[in-house]
Amino acid sequence: MKDGNPSTIYLKNYTQSNFLIEKTDLKFELNDEISFVTSNLVVRKNLHVPNVDPTLMLHGNKNLQLLWIEVDGVRLEDDSFHKTDTDLSIPNMPDSFELSIKVSIKPQENTTMMGLYRSRTMFCTQCEAEGFRSITYFLDRPDVMSEYTTTIVADSQRYPILLSNGNLIDEGTLKDGKHYAIWNDPHKKPSYLFALVAGSLSFVEDSFKTMSGRNVALKIFVEEKDLDKCTYAMDALKRSMRWDEEKYGREYDLDIFMIVAVDDFNMGAMENKGLNIFNTSAVLVNPEISTDAAFQRVEAIVAHEYFHNWSGNRVTCRDWFQLSLKEGFTVFRDAQFSSDMNSSVVKRIEDVNFLRDHQFAEDSGPMAHSVQPDSYIEINNFYTVTIYEKGAEVVGMYHTLLGEDKFREATDLYFNRHDGSAATVEDFVVAMEDVSGRNLNQFRRWYSQAGTPVVTVKSHYDAANRSYRLDFSQNCPDTPNQKNKKPFLIPIKLGLVSPDGEDIGLNIDRENEVIFELSEINDSISFDNIDSRPVPSLLRGFSAPVKLVYEYSKEELSHLASHDSDGFSRWDAGNRLYNMVLLDYVDSLSKGHEPLKDDYVISVFSSILDDQTIEPAVAALMLQIPSDKALYGLLSKIDPHYVSKARKFARVMLNEALNENIYSKYNQLCFDKAFLPSAEQIGERSLKNTLLSYIVLDKSNGLKTVYDQFQSATNMTDKTSALNLLINHDKDDTYASSALADFYCQYKNENLVVNLWLQLQATNQQPGGLSRVQSLMEHESFTIKNPNKVRSLIGSFASGNHFNFHDKLGTGYEFLGEQILKLNTLNPQVAARLVTPLTRWSDYEEPYANLMKKQLKVIKASPGLVSDVYEVVTKSL
Ligand code: BES
Ligand code: ZN
Repeated sequence: MKDGNPSTIYLKNYTQSNFLIEKTDLKFELNDEISFVTSNLVVRKNLHVPNVDPTLMLHGNKNLQLLWIEVDGVRLEDDSFHKTDTDLSIPNMPDSFELSIKVSIKPQENTTMMGLYRSRTMFCTQCEAEGFRSITYFLDRPDVMSEYTTTIVADSQRYPILLSNGNLIDEGTLKDGKHYAIWNDPHKKPSYLFALVAGSLSFVEDSFKTMSGRNVALKIFVEEKDLDKCTYAMDALKRSMRWDEEKYGREYDLDIFMIVAVDDFNMGAMENKGLNIFNTSAVLVNPEISTDAAFQRVEAIVAHEYFHNWSGNRVTCRDWFQLSLKEGFTVFRDAQFSSDMNSSVVKRIEDVNFLRDHQFAEDSGPMAHSVQPDSYIEINNFYTVTIYEKGAEVVGMYHTLLGEDKFREATDLYFNRHDGSAATVEDFVVAMEDVSGRNLNQFRRWYSQAGTPVVTVKSHYDAANRSYRLDFSQNCPDTPNQKNKKPFLIPIKLGLVSPDGEDIGLNIDRENEVIFELSEINDSISFDNIDSRPVPSLLRGFSAPVKLVYEYSKEELSHLASHDSDGFSRWDAGNRLYNMVLLDYVDSLSKGHEPLKDDYVISVFSSILDDQTIEPAVAALMLQIPSDKALYGLLSKIDPHYVSKARKFARVMLNEALNENIYSKYNQLCFDKAFLPSAEQIGERSLKNTLLSYIVLDKSNGLKTVYDQFQSATNMTDKTSALNLLINHDKDDTYASSALADFYCQYKNENLVVNLWLQLQATNQQPGGLSRVQSLMEHESFTIKNPNKVRSLIGSFASGNHFNFHDKLGTGYEFLGEQILKLNTLNPQVAARLVTPLTRWSDYEEPYANLMKKQLKVIKASPGLVSDVYEVVTKSL
């Protein structure tokens, strides 16, 4: 625990390390009670630093028990070094020397899931960002890169599998029933990429031939019971390896690539060199137990961690202010991959929805920060949607500005120039500049200025001169500690759609689409030879992470929703129309008026239902009204209850108007095909279950139809979609409680399915949600020690059960506060993430806002807050 007022770290204070570690030799002796870590480090002064301070300062942690230190084989006396809870300093060091340190640790008592800890029966590690320092004293910073050799000694019965990074160079048996393995990783790496696993694990095996003809062994290690859930991840891994060769020319660089699945993990997965460690939820899937969403998540995360081998490992980050350099870029790469493997329009819509719901919200709240922050208290709090998703959008804008070929040339230059070293965001920009020949100074503001820019557009049509002009203006709201933003360089992809629904040729080349680079606060673009007033299709493909304001009429939006040639924009137009109508409903309801039926929305829905050419997956998305969260982002003050009523009204209205079409389309989709997690089938199921979400509202037959699907479903997507609808709609509980019980009974031995079962109940919007969650916390399947359980039950309740979490007495907030304090020392990272829903307090109407704030104050006043929770709570008050 880090007591007191934690201090702030600033980017401007970055200095190089005064010492470097050339080689790191580690020996782990793993035991039930006390484990030992002995390190042998080849250290030398950093010649790039003038007048090096000869004091060696190593990072540490108060859980390290220091046993001894030797410099060049000579034991140090206690008074020749200085040790605190966070570091170890040794003065007067020579230019180069060998440093040996032995410490003891107790992994079985480590509940934070950082450093070396236990998950069920195995030992495993998580070192990013600063976990290595709780394994041993070290220069635990990413710009200190070293070659690692790791020896692991453990009981051979209980820990038959001993893994670390790189290649296995030796193994053998020892006395007392122990054995050992020695691994060497020839690639220099920072400590955050170190990994170790010991346990009784089974594995599936495959191989991959790289583009230069080398054979790479691929292994996925799991508990024996999970061996039947690895095939899909293995295939996804091979697809990722091939794709990175084809798309980026990047080849894998070791003889073996391993993935280990662990149940207790703070994040989704981690890219440790040659030994990725995955949350079971991010790697294990099979047709019996997994939803389509789970399959797609596994494919994306396997790809993401694999792609880090180049964007993160071969070229790593100089310091944690550069985090988006690896995370934003790698999210961009995994999105390109998913888009190539599945429907690119669907992937884009999902990503933009996620960005708007989460990143726009972060960017307009108290935790807003730039893609390259200039300070932080706790680095673990900065693995945010801004670093990841906005960071990926920024990379996407280079792709738009430079075009596919130049972008690839620039990434080649970046990888080759910085291979084997620790780079900065600036290095990435310079590579883009060097290849494109452009000066990207203004573009750099995307890294330093927080907040979501607002682009306002107005159009002018001059019929006499057949000309059309679009006037743009931009501004970016103030964010904490940042006022008066300078204008951004914003690439706006646009087209003009004629009254008969065709794209209009925009220039002499008759191009249908141009990229307008908005760089001033105000600027315009004009088009000639325009025969009649067109409808502008703006920000196609979501070419920049901005809010676009244009006063579309409902007719214009309907027109774009049925004719826009850009799939994303077609969806976006429908979505804008739904937003417009729903906001109107919220307004009516809050004034005590009954909302009015909207024929535009009904007709857009109807035309999508009739459209035989539209991809089912896209149709599904166009038939979904905006989420509660999406609407929150558009309201100046949120009352979750009016939003929920407005959405309900719209859905009932649509179902009443289109009931027959919905049923008949649903029935068309109720065929029996052999299950495949293919893009095509996933799209069909997505459409089918979207339709079912309207059918459930049908008073005569709805619940019955849903229950039939629940009972006859032959895949997890159909089954859990139906279960979700049942529990949310069955007021008298005729179907819901037996469905829930049957489901649990059938899947109680499948932990990942049980987590989904917990999550469905946590987000059930029927009254009484809090007491349901409280009693589930006593259920045999729940433990607060497992992050997946906490996320499924407590996290989902707070971030997804709007109706129950926001009650007028604040009991939902009190409950969350209590759980955060329980987790405060148990697992600081998980605790800090749970605070997020409360940080948005100022967006809410009274009494919610005050009650949320009150709860933040209660947390803040609690003794012994860890820096993770402290930072989020203080910054949001
Ligand atoms: N490097 C991260 C994992 C990580 C994050 C470790 C924070 C320590 C602290 C990894 O590459 C990652 O980003 N994982 C994501 C999934 C990915 C698909 C965005 C995750 O774990 O959620
Ligand atoms: Zn990552």
